[in-house]
Amino acid sequence: MLIQAILVDRFKQAIEKLILAHNEAGANIDAKTLPVPLSKSTRPEFGEYQFNGAMALSKQLKKNPREIAQEILEHVSLDDIAHHCEIAGPGFINIHLDSNWIAQQIEAANGNARLNVSKQTKQKVVVDYSSPNLAKEMHVGHLRSTIIGDAVVKVLEFLGADVIRQNHMGDWGTQFGMLLAHLSDKLEQSQASTALSDLEDFYREAKVRFDNEEGFADRAREYVVKLQSGDEQCLALWEQFIDISISHSEEVYTKLGVSLSREDIMGESAYNPDLPVLVKDLLEREVAVRDQGAVVVFLPELADKNGNPAVYIIQKSGGGYLYATTDLAAIRYRCGKLSADRTMIFTDARQALHFKQTELVARKANYMPASHHYQHCPFGMMLGKDGKPFKTRSGTTIKLADLLDEAIERAAKLIAQRAGDKSDDELQEIAQTVGIGAVKYADLSKNRTTDYIFDWDSMLSFEGNTAPYLQYAYTRIRSIFRKADIEMDNFTAPVTVANHSDNESERALAIKLLQFEDALLAVSNEAAPHLLCTYLYELASLFMKFYEASPILKTDVDASLRDSRLGLAALSAKTLKQGLSMLGIDVLEQM
Ligand code: ARG
Repeated sequence: MLIQAILVDRFKQAIEKLILAHNEAGANIDAKTLPVPLSKSTRPEFGEYQFNGAMALSKQLKKNPREIAQEILEHVSLDDIAHHCEIAGPGFINIHLDSNWIAQQIEAANGNARLNVSKQTKQKVVVDYSSPNLAKEMHVGHLRSTIIGDAVVKVLEFLGADVIRQNHMGDWGTQFGMLLAHLSDKLEQSQASTALSDLEDFYREAKVRFDNEEGFADRAREYVVKLQSGDEQCLALWEQFIDISISHSEEVYTKLGVSLSREDIMGESAYNPDLPVLVKDLLEREVAVRDQGAVVVFLPELADKNGNPAVYIIQKSGGGYLYATTDLAAIRYRCGKLSADRTMIFTDARQALHFKQTELVARKANYMPASHHYQHCPFGMMLGKDGKPFKTRSGTTIKLADLLDEAIERAAKLIAQRAGDKSDDELQEIAQTVGIGAVKYADLSKNRTTDYIFDWDSMLSFEGNTAPYLQYAYTRIRSIFRKADIEMDNFTAPVTVANHSDNESERALAIKLLQFEDALLAVSNEAAPHLLCTYLYELASLFMKFYEASPILKTDVDASLRDSRLGLAALSAKTLKQGLSMLGIDVLEQM
């Protein structure tokens, strides 16, 4: 249930009625353009929500804002939801939700596998994420794209969207000439899988040869030509390379628990057949022009300060195609073949200009319907504790696979210190879940667009906005149910919710539980998983506060009160679990 949206809707209707009445009496106001500002109240005595639209409206109607607030209250129908509303200060409307209504919503969510979250959309959304370059091992830079993209995918799917994952892997381009030439030499002594067991080393060796070895650079260039002209032997070699490189990525996906599979790969090479067609089409329709042998699109919209238009190259003078050409072809495919309504692309912020230009060109060429929502979702960099790009001590980039192994190791040490009587297997399983969860959560919980500092100690802490804290809160609730010997998942009981003056932490927890769907909608709108993290963190903190103030299993708590509190606890746990699962993080029964 979307509580925020419901309230906004009710106030919108009220304002429309109010304006209609005023317009009939001679005013001239367009109700459609009026904002409907509704926010969460900052203090419990102000109720749960606050409507702040009376002041702006009163200016337009030239009336006292408190009077307008009163008129709004006369028009708004909130009887089913609100216990009462009151006008405060210059004309704020405080909304106090009805405790019975809140309790009903909690009960309904407890009895429903989707926790009462509705399917709100049928949009077809292409999500382009992870997208490593296959000529290299995946490194930490791809961590963000992979896990942020995957979290957004899962939220969109939960909300009903038809999501098409696309792993736009960099599997084509001139650098493959050098790699294939080197591979073909290596194959004389060893198998491809051995030669490519460490892609980073392999790449480095090839580069050294390219820079120093006589004749090698020429051979590399020959390979490029052969590859592009579809030479069978060369393609076979390329396929071998790609296949092994993809399996390296897959190992990382498995470790991360990311939902990408081979079927989701739609690499750059997939668009090759369309590139000449696309360039011809853009030339014919005079979107592109020939310029010094190359084919380019001039973009006066993005001129520099001297008025020179930006130049977007789609074919180099030697005939080669570029990253940009492929991205245009991808748009044609996604909007044409797939009829997607929305595209979301997750890469680091340095590619922002590229996607801005790409969108502009595609819109000029009508490759996208006007209604298509094309979104580059940029993210900041992962920094070391020194504030510089994250590197190993020796200064090389860190491989993702190594980083994840370290996370598990560190978590294992921590868990061993805390755990009483756990077997090695149990410890290992917990360490895996906690370690990977911590790395992912540390990344997901930061505002996507800013840089963030990678810090083992804070991400593995059991306090604060971390995965271990949330996982711990979940196990805490599980243990309450174990102690009570009640099965949590199917537990339903009549719930009562107190007034804030009677039990503030109970009421705050209940309200938070009702806001789950609002949080998910915000994640989907803003492509921002950190909003879900913040929500879950607040939920877990409120549960802990509630549990401290309101004992559940103590003998002096009567049965109906105990069950009501168990109902709140169960929904808290289920919401944590569902939320974490969309972030790609598992929960544990015990830790
Ligand atoms: N392979 C690119 C990189 O690692 C990311 C591709 C993103 N997607 C796209 N459609 N360009 O930087």
